[in-house]
Amino acid sequence: MSDEPTRITDFEDPSEDPLFSVENEDSSTQIFERKELLKVGHVPESARIVGRDTEIESVAAELRPIVRSEPPNNVMIYGKTGTGKSLVTRHVTERARQAADAQGVTVGTVYVDCAQHDTHTRVARSITRTLNDEESTGLSIPRTGIGSGEYYDYLWEILDVSYDSVLVILDEVDRLETDDVLMQLSRARESGKAECHLGIVAISNKIEYRDSLNERVKSSLREEEFVFQPYDANQLREIMEHRRDAFKDDVLTDDVIPLTAAFAAQEHGDARKAIEILRHAGELAERRADGEITDGHVRDAQEWAEVDRFEELLRGSTTQVKFILYSLAVLTRENRENEFSTSRIYKQYSTVCDQLDANVLSEHRVYELLKEQAFLGVVESTRTGGGRGQGSYLEHRLVQDTSVVLKSVLRDSRFDNLE
Ligand SMILES: Nc1ncnc2c1ncn2[C@@H]1O[C@H](COP(=O)(O)OP(=O)(O)O)[C@@H](O)[C@H]1O
Ligand SMILES: [Mg+2]
Repeated sequence: MSDEPTRITDFEDPSEDPLFSVENEDSSTQIFERKELLKVGHVPESARIVGRDTEIESVAAELRPIVRSEPPNNVMIYGKTGTGKSLVTRHVTERARQAADAQGVTVGTVYVDCAQHDTHTRVARSITRTLNDEESTGLSIPRTGIGSGEYYDYLWEILDVSYDSVLVILDEVDRLETDDVLMQLSRARESGKAECHLGIVAISNKIEYRDSLNERVKSSLREEEFVFQPYDANQLREIMEHRRDAFKDDVLTDDVIPLTAAFAAQEHGDARKAIEILRHAGELAERRADGEITDGHVRDAQEWAEVDRFEELLRGSTTQVKFILYSLAVLTRENRENEFSTSRIYKQYSTVCDQLDANVLSEHRVYELLKEQAFLGVVESTRTGGGRGQGSYLEHRLVQDTSVVLKSVLRDSRFDNLE
């Protein structure tokens, strides 16, 4: 064997191509035993769902009539992201379907992610095509070329032919352009357009959503409402404990789950955040070839998540805004204080622009952009009384951690030439 490092171009058999190694796809690694348990879209089995018994029972009670072939109640679920709304809904509707089936009642369920199907026609198409079993209905539903009205005509026919009841889950319903979908579905139910009973379970991250609904929709929907509360640190800990087997034995050190839970609890109790941080901590350990996951990995993973979120907040901002925020971050890092006047920021900003060979805006423009960032919550601007006869002026400080701000603006390639 030679000591030459193997080159990425050195391979003979395509099945051994190091760029596309199949071995890497295996979910079992040094750190992970079953990484898929920590994937975003993963729907865990019942035993892994913890701390939502009351919610599960309440939603089930509204749907229960369908197992006796009676009409279910419509349900609306509100709550912040990561509070288990989608999970509980999928879990309960699937159990309802199976329980009905055991009674000889045919229930169809259809899950629509309205964030992906944001127009009326797309939702109608998705519901209709999912519920259609071509073999039993003999209908072939076109993918394109017809409008929502025609999809509904097909849908009523499918409901009559194939089902006793159907449950339609509209997840992230607030993302729909109009409330026509709710209008159509709830009216069809009222007018008995189909023999089949139709139940709607709508989910929204925004509690204000109901106020935005048309009065007619509200009165025909007549739904039961539930609000899912955020998880506390103990519940988050338990949720993660129930997925511990995603990891190899003994790789999780004792602090990891409690610390992750504490971070996610600060993040309004978001279980998705918790699971993401946990997975990322594992990936960091793996990438650094560390044999176990420690609180250091969790802290880095948490910072990474914050950098991501901050970058998201900056998306759509101009490069000039990033120069300004970068300047403020540099000042904050290099000085004891953390509040700076517009003119100090401007001086730093001019230097940065020079270094990067970028065009320099006027001080007044920079002042306006800072005020805009204050409006967006990225910086906080306070008015400071100058000394006697000096008048007052604004001072600005970063709301976020300096290192988070620096890391996320530095992801912009315009900064690549900086020392
Ligand atoms: N009570 C729970 N038990 C186990 N896992 C949960 C629980 N609540 C949420 N999760 C997990 O957290 C993530 C986010 O949950 P999700 O139902 O998508 O939240 P929401 O729809 O409210 O944003 C998912 O991976 C889900 O499996
Ligand atoms: Mg959801």
